[in-house]
This record gives sequence, C-alpha cells and structure tokens, in this order.
Amino acid sequence: MSAAASPSSLDGFSLAAPTAGFLDDPYPTYDELRRSSPLHWLSHDSVLLTRHADVLAVYRSAHASSDKRREFAPKFGTGSPLYEHHTTSLVFNDPPVHTRVRRILMGALDQRAMARMEPGVRTLVHTLLDGLEDCRAPDLIEHFAARIPVEVIGNLLDVPREERGPLRDWSLAILSALEPAPSPRVLDRGNAAVTAFKDYLTGLIDRRRRHPGDPQVDVLTRLINGDSQGRLSPSELTHNCIFLLNAGHETTTNLIGNGAHALLAHRDQFERLVREPGLIGTAVEELLRFESPLQLNNRQALAPLVVGSGEIPAGTFVTLCIGAANRDPAVFDDPHRLDIGRRPNNHLAFGQGSHACSGMNVARMEARIALGELVRRFPRMHLADSPPERDRRVRFRGFRSLPVRLD
Ligand code: HEM
Repeated sequence: MSAAASPSSLDGFSLAAPTAGFLDDPYPTYDELRRSSPLHWLSHDSVLLTRHADVLAVYRSAHASSDKRREFAPKFGTGSPLYEHHTTSLVFNDPPVHTRVRRILMGALDQRAMARMEPGVRTLVHTLLDGLEDCRAPDLIEHFAARIPVEVIGNLLDVPREERGPLRDWSLAILSALEPAPSPRVLDRGNAAVTAFKDYLTGLIDRRRRHPGDPQVDVLTRLINGDSQGRLSPSELTHNCIFLLNAGHETTTNLIGNGAHALLAHRDQFERLVREPGLIGTAVEELLRFESPLQLNNRQALAPLVVGSGEIPAGTFVTLCIGAANRDPAVFDDPHRLDIGRRPNNHLAFGQGSHACSGMNVARMEARIALGELVRRFPRMHLADSPPERDRRVRFRGFRSLPVRLD
C-alpha cells in the first residue's frame, strides 16, 4: 500500500499539526477530503475517512478493532498511568472485556433511568439560568454548559457534591492526551490526572462497598456488584468509572455550548425555536450533526476492510472523521445549512455499532432541557461583542468561553 496522490490543496494536511484556520473552521478541508481524497493516507499505515458511508462501514465491521494497545504503547509508554487507563476502559477494548463492561453499564442508562434523572436536571438548569441573570458578564460555558454534565454524571455515580470540584480538570487533562500529537506537558498533566483520579476513586469505591447504594439508580454500586456473569476486576472498576466520568462530561458541555453558539449565530433558527419550542428534539439532533462534539474516532483493521471508497489493508490505523461524515452531501441535503427541523437526520455524532455511545440518551436529555429552557428564558439573547474563545483541539470541538448579552 502506498500513500494515494493527494490534491495540492491537501498537501501537508495533518491532524497532528492543524493550522489555526482548520481549528476555526475544519469544514472546507473536510469537503475537499471527502471529494478528492476519501481514503486520505496520513502515513504509510494510517488513513483518514471522511465519507459517511465509509465511516459507517467501519463502525459496523467485525474486523475493525477498538483495542488501542498497539497504538498507545509508543504514544503513552506501557508503564504510564495514561496507558493503563486508556487500555482498560471499555471504549478502547474488544470483546470479551468490552461486552462484559457494557452489559453491566447499559442497564443503568435506560429510559427509566432518564425519567428519574430529568426533574433534577430541570431544577439545576433553572437555578443556573437564574444565576445568569445576576452575572455581569455571562459566559455560557463557565456559567451554564460546563455546570450541567458534571452534576448529572456525578449524580449517576453518586459522587458527594462537595467532592466534585476537581472532576472537570482531571477529565480535561486525561482526554487532552488523546489528541493526535500531545506535547510532553499534556502527557505529564494527563498522567498526573489519572493518578489523582484513581486515588480518589479507590476511596469512593471503598466507601460504597461498605455502604452500597440502590443498583437501580447508582451506577457505581451496579459496577461494583457486576452481574450474574461476573464482576469487574478492581482495575477495570476504577478505570471504567474514570472513563464514564470523562465520557459524559466534556462532550455534553460541548454539545450545549456548540448548540447555543450555532443557534445564536443563525438567528433565524434561534427565533424559530423560540416560536416553535416543540422542535427541541430535532434541534438537538441537528446541533449534534452540525457541530459534533467528538470529531474523530479510531479503529485498527484486523483484516482488510472494504469500504465504498476502496480497500484498507489489515493492520492500518483508521481515523473516522465524524465531523466530515455529518456534513456529507450524499446523506444530508444542503449539509452546511443549520435546519433545526431536519428529518431524517442520520448523523454519526454518537458513533454506531457495538461501541455506540452508551450515554446518548443522557446527553440528549441534558441538551433538550438546557437549550430549550435557555431559549425560552432569554429569547433576546445575543452573542456579546467580545468573541468566543474556541478550544484548540481537533478531536473535541467546543468553546472555552462563550460571552453573551441577555438583553
Ligand atoms: C454529546 C455528548 C456525547 C457525545 C457526542 C458522545 C459521543 C460518543 C461516541 C462517538 C462514542 C463511540 C466511541 C467509539 O465508537 O469509539 C461514545 C462512546 C461512549 N460514550 Fe458517549 N458521548 C456523549 C455523551 C456521553 C454521556 C453523557 C455518557 C455517560 C453517561 C457517555 C458514555 C459513553 C460510553 C460509556 C461510551 C463507550 C461505549 C462502548 O465502548 O461500548 N457518553 N460516545
């Protein structure tokens, strides 16, 4: 296999060293890749896919592995906390580990669990909206979007409220190390965060073993108990709790933040939602598609993978570009238009197949309440004069700050 000839405008394109322009607006590059280099070789054994059909085919393939040991050994070092963490969580494992952990987890994230969580999320959102009115310079990330998931996911694992302070920073540090080329500083921070998080969870798990919660409600008790087919090892237990706390955290903050920004930047759609609040369900799906919080997923080909755009040899590392697939004109009419009533909307923001996001209903519920209530409470909200600050990462798409005027 050799690197396919790529058109000149894509020469030098690299996820590891993205340009500022790409981070601000990756969509023109995604369009070009999808059109002229759908199997885009990043190196001799690493390919980037941007077409919806190709990404879907890999998600559904039995020969696409999520086991990241080979990839993460040189990146993190096999003895490092980051390596231990990322190679133990369910998302980066294949069966049987993946199947076992996922089965135990899923029972706690079903529709009944959603219904139990919803009133608490509503109360929290109303309290935060009240607080926004009192802010001199309201920032929708700091004062709103970032405050919701940490509470929801903290409640799921029943983390005492007064102990939730460090969770967001640990999560940011651990997930940032998943960027294509993390700097030594990012790796140091990620390793320190895994160690601190592990120490904290060891204590929390000890306390929960002594005073178990209700396994119908408390995900941690559920993970401790296991099921009729077995239990998690102590290391699996700790690392999957860390993963869960991280997975439900930044992505959902970014869904709410990106969603609010997209609506404010497309005034007609903002006002449409004010007039037709019943569109909140399709609006959240469209916002997931339009600015996907997770832009990239990864797999490794265990055998040759045949996708519409060609064949990917066994052993290849495959990067699936969710953000590009979700703007593919072959699937979405006028894909760069935000249409909060769009139907159908077969976006891939939550992945697909055996690893599809276990928390998608939690995230959807949070976003429906947060964005629905935001627009209802502040129908004249506008972006402030000071510009929003974008997060400079390629895997996670979101904002660090989003100043607004409530008018
Ligand atoms: C907007 C918010 C979210 C987005 C965009 C998102 C996206 C994703 C994606 C794309 C995957 C698939 C990874 C892969 O195939 O390699 C995934 C997996 C996962 N997500 Fe989410 N997620 C979100 C929120 C949540 C929440 C709130 C939770 C927990 C309550 C959660 C828990 C998980 C878990 C446990 C997995 C691993 C599933 C598995 O490997 O079987 N996510 N997520």
